[in-house]
Amino acid sequence: MDISVIIPTFNEGNNVQTITNRLSKALQPTGKSFEILFMDDSTDNTPEILDQLSQDASFVRYIHRTNKRGLATAVIDGLKDAEGEILVVMDADLQHPPELIPTMIDKLNEGFQMVIPSRFVPGGSDGGLNLYRKFVSWTARMIARLALKRLRKITDPTSGFFAVKKSAIQGNIYHPIGWKIMIELIVRANITSVAEIPYQFQSRDLGSSKMSGSEQVRYLIHLGRLVMISEEDRKFFSFCAIGLSGVIVNLAIYKVMLLLNSPVVIAFILSSIVSMISNYLLNSTLTWKSRVMHQTSGRIIQFFRYLLVSTAGLAISSGFLSFLFYILHVHPMLSGILGIVTGVIWNYVVNDKWTFST
Ligand code: GDD
Ligand code: MN
Repeated sequence: MDISVIIPTFNEGNNVQTITNRLSKALQPTGKSFEILFMDDSTDNTPEILDQLSQDASFVRYIHRTNKRGLATAVIDGLKDAEGEILVVMDADLQHPPELIPTMIDKLNEGFQMVIPSRFVPGGSDGGLNLYRKFVSWTARMIARLALKRLRKITDPTSGFFAVKKSAIQGNIYHPIGWKIMIELIVRANITSVAEIPYQFQSRDLGSSKMSGSEQVRYLIHLGRLVMISEEDRKFFSFCAIGLSGVIVNLAIYKVMLLLNSPVVIAFILSSIVSMISNYLLNSTLTWKSRVMHQTSGRIIQFFRYLLVSTAGLAISSGFLSFLFYILHVHPMLSGILGIVTGVIWNYVVNDKWTFST
């Protein structure tokens, strides 16, 4: 079997016939063998319609589940059951145009592991969403791209429409939760070559959206889990959390020294040094644990490199802040935030590439 199109359905009785027609019209001319696999959790008469469809057309199959529910497990179960070498996942409600699939397949044949139709590359549009959904969806995409490095270059990581080679995702264990199966696949199967092609997200004509607030909470939990299992992302967040703890150490010692009547400058310098040391100790036992040198001399070198990087980071971030504030007259709070961000990125990248290089 060449292609399996997996379609999760929950009460989509009004849409399944149309999507089947449009899919077969789009796929037949390619000359490839294909199946349409509906993964159904419906509580209405959708299963009966699917049953009829599967009798009418040999390329339609469906699995109706009564023991469990949920989009993520429906799609993952479908991916396991599908027979095609190429797996396409899409919604039943015609918001994803089936006519795009031949182009997606061509792209996979060019050598990409995954192809994502994107609403956010030139030529695409997310016209089907209202302003509120647009905002929620933008926020969700931004959080995903900040949290997970693998997603940083993908403009539409929350898409429910994608094609992937079966060989690229086989042999991994997936823990589906929430809606974003594609993110789960990219991170856990470590998918690196992704192509995006533009498409116009359509508005839903029949039936209603099943998206809810609790799904959005599950989405954040899902991203958190993926950050924890992904070495490169975990390192960055561990570094940021330790940096935050450093600020607290710094302020606490500063306050104590002031209470002890220490001069302000001395209190500031000393508390800064202590927080740098505590940051170093935490980072070398947590963030870059596996890269700490064994010999004492090596550790001392790494420690001094760390201090050097932090001091240079302070110079760079305050230099940048001054440039923004004094020359470009940027708002002082915004200058401060951008200065801090620059410092954090500098410290992380240089410590990762140099201080703790092996
Ligand atoms: N089997 C199964 N079980 N299918 C489900 C379930 C479920 O519990 N919940 C929803 N579905 C099916 C719907 O029937 C539909 O085919 C598809 O999943 C998407 O559901 P919609 O309710 O149409 O989602 P949406 O339009 O709000 O969200 C779309 O946009 C997102 C991008 O922002 C979907 O395309 C998402 O996949 C996409 O991520
Ligand atoms: Mn929809």
